[in-house]
Amino acid sequence: MAEVNLLTRYPKAKRNVKARMLHKEGNRRIALQFGKEYFDGTREQGYGGYRYDGRWAVVARRAIEHWQLKPGDRVLDIGCAKGFFVKDLRDALPGLDVIGIDISDYALENAHPDARPYLSKASCDELPFPDKSFAAAFAINTIHNLDRAGCRRALREIERVCPGRGFVQLDAYRTETERELFLDWMLTAKTFDTPAGWLQMFKANGYSGDYWWTVLERDESIQR
Ligand SMILES: C[S@@+](CC[C@H](N)C(=O)[O-])C[C@H]1O[C@@H](n2cnc3c(N)ncnc32)[C@H](O)[C@@H]1O
Repeated sequence: MAEVNLLTRYPKAKRNVKARMLHKEGNRRIALQFGKEYFDGTREQGYGGYRYDGRWAVVARRAIEHWQLKPGDRVLDIGCAKGFFVKDLRDALPGLDVIGIDISDYALENAHPDARPYLSKASCDELPFPDKSFAAAFAINTIHNLDRAGCRRALREIERVCPGRGFVQLDAYRTETERELFLDWMLTAKTFDTPAGWLQMFKANGYSGDYWWTVLERDESIQR
C-alpha cells in the first residue's frame, strides 16, 4: 500500500468558486444525476464539457510502468466516464485488456468510440466480476461519490477483484482552509476526509492497494 500520484502531469483545473456557489444546491442536484449537464453542461454544473484531448495518455504510461503491466493483463477502470483512460491505456500498451464501468448512462452512450466496446454499466460498490479478476484496478475520483457505507463497500470490492493492486484517488483536505474550499466547490462528493481518516477506512476494510488524494487549492487568478 503506497501513495502514488498518477496525475502529476494532468492539467490543473480552473475553478471559479464564486460562480459555482451562486446556485450551488440546484447545481449539486443536477450534477448528482451524472447526466449530460454534469459532463457537457456548464462549469457550474460539472466538467463544463468533457472531451477527449489525450490528457490521460501520460497517466496511462505512468500506470503501466508503476503496475508493471504487460500485454494480456486485465485492467479495470472504475468510474470510467467516457472511457478516455480506457482508450489511452489500450493505445499505450497494445494487448492490454482494459475495460471500464460507470454508473452514468450518458457517459457510456457518449463514450469515445475506441473505448465504447469495452465499457459497461455497474456500480463501484457491487462489481460484477469474480474474485482476483484484474492485474490492476483504478478508481479515480469515483468512490467518494458514495456515502461512507458505500465507500466501505467499494473499497472491499476493489480489494476482492484486484487484491493489493488497486488504486483509489479520493477527495481529501489537510487544513481547515482546504476543507472550506472543498465544501464550496464540490458538487457530487458525499464522503471526504483527511488522509489519516481515509487510511483508517482502508485499514478497517482490508484495502491494501495504492492511493492518492484530490486536494483543492485556491486558484489565485480568480477572486472569490
Ligand atoms: C469525477 S468523475 C471521474 C471520472 C474519471 N475517473 C476521471 O477521473 O476523470 C466521477 C465518475 O464516477 C461515476 N460514478 C458515480 N457514482 C458511481 C458509482 N456508484 N459507480 C461507478 N461510477 C460512478 C460518474 O458517473 C463519473 O463518471
